Amino acid sequence: MKLFLDTANLDDIRAAARLGVIHGVTTNPTLISREKGDFSAIIREIASLVDGPVFAEVLSTEAEGMIREGRELAAVDPAVCVKIPMTEEGLAAASVLAKEGIRVCCTLVFSAAQALLAANAGARYVAPFIGRFDDIGYDGIEAVESIADVLSDGDFETEVIAASVRSPLHTVEAARAGADIATVPPKVLFQMAHHPLTDAGLAKFMKDWTASGREV
Ligand code: G3P
Repeated sequence: MKLFLDTANLDDIRAAARLGVIHGVTTNPTLISREKGDFSAIIREIASLVDGPVFAEVLSTEAEGMIREGRELAAVDPAVCVKIPMTEEGLAAASVLAKEGIRVCCTLVFSAAQALLAANAGARYVAPFIGRFDDIGYDGIEAVESIADVLSDGDFETEVIAASVRSPLHTVEAARAGADIATVPPKVLFQMAHHPLTDAGLAKFMKDWTASGREV
């Protein structure tokens, strides 16, 4: 399972890209609202920092507006993948944009039924939100598993991006549930790199080395 970074913060993207583990960046209106500057300029800058798709979301709620915004966002950079909310209007817009060769991600997906519709509309990606489903007492990982299962028959190339990831365990469980990609916030990505036994093991290696009278 590939990892994307879920943020629009350029410092965090630089720090994560330096590790060589990021294959794309996802944003949403909330994440963009936390950053200063022009939307298109931020997206362009992100695209210059990572190899892989950069996801930018439309704000219109009617298909016509989504299509217009989707075309504009796709023109910002070749790496842009347009995020469209999973609504009836969103499906109508996604199918038009997909036919034009614009990559679309249907976002705010919570069921296998919605994922099937998105795939049939030509969405390149569907993004089920794990944490937000957990928040209301459902099992977000189970939803990812069900979505990955119904899309696994090979009829479409739609990939599953596990989103609203809140912990390293969510990330691992998403992989086990069959997600193709997990988009993780910077905090979770850096948490994933650490383990207390790695720190303890490293400290012991250093202590034993210096105790032998050798220099580092
Ligand atoms: O990728 C979607 C993500 O940004 C939402 O995460 O934690 O706000 O539910 P969260």
